[in-house]
Amino acid sequence: MRVIVVKDYDAMSQEAFRLMKATLTEKKDAVLGLATGSTPIGLYREMIADYRAGGTSYRDVRTFNLDEYVGLDVSSDQSYVYFMRNNLFDHIDVLPENTNIENGKAEDPEAECARYNALLSETEIDLQILGIGSNGHIAFNEPGTPFDSVTHVVALAESTVKDNSRLFKSIDEVPRRAFTMGLANIMAAKKVVILANGANKARAVYGLCRGEITEQLPASILQKHPDCTLICDEAAASLL
Ligand code: PGA
Repeated sequence: MRVIVVKDYDAMSQEAFRLMKATLTEKKDAVLGLATGSTPIGLYREMIADYRAGGTSYRDVRTFNLDEYVGLDVSSDQSYVYFMRNNLFDHIDVLPENTNIENGKAEDPEAECARYNALLSETEIDLQILGIGSNGHIAFNEPGTPFDSVTHVVALAESTVKDNSRLFKSIDEVPRRAFTMGLANIMAAKKVVILANGANKARAVYGLCRGEITEQLPASILQKHPDCTLICDEAAASLL
């Protein structure tokens, strides 16, 4: 794993954008794996600024998002589909029909997982962007998730519900279940860029790059990925 330590959040976002831009320059019709959460917002801002300045076009790009809360769809501003439109898709020229995310309101969750896995198995993600949870999760693959998992419905760890409650009016409003791509789906990406900032990620970042490869720290599987880059700020790197 390549490790790039930078000063702060803005520098992390700029470095991530540099790798994103390299992928898009090389391949106009790249397939991007995208993440939600606070971490990638700066990267998305860089992408929007570059697009507005006449840079990259996303006309031929396809996207796959990692995860979505069960029970939420775009009518909720807490859903990840809403987040992606608000923070990226509505501000670039990606075609809505080329953006993919699990349907949080699917009537049959198992069928929805099968639909998403079928889509993923027909394509190869050129660049997968990831954040990391304070407990070492990637996407919503919580500690204990099998390394060979594909898209599934997960019961969120109590620590994740607590971490994410900052974005809801109260902790009771945080959905307890989510759809998530599995670890095998993520490992199938050609290139992975994982971002981390802030001292509350330092332990997870240590486990990601230096810890034992264990299902108890799902991100540790990335030590086996042939092309993975960690970009983190000094606070998140403080235990390395
Ligand atoms: P965050 O979430 O970017 O909001 O910190 C990261 C994650 O849980 O994967």
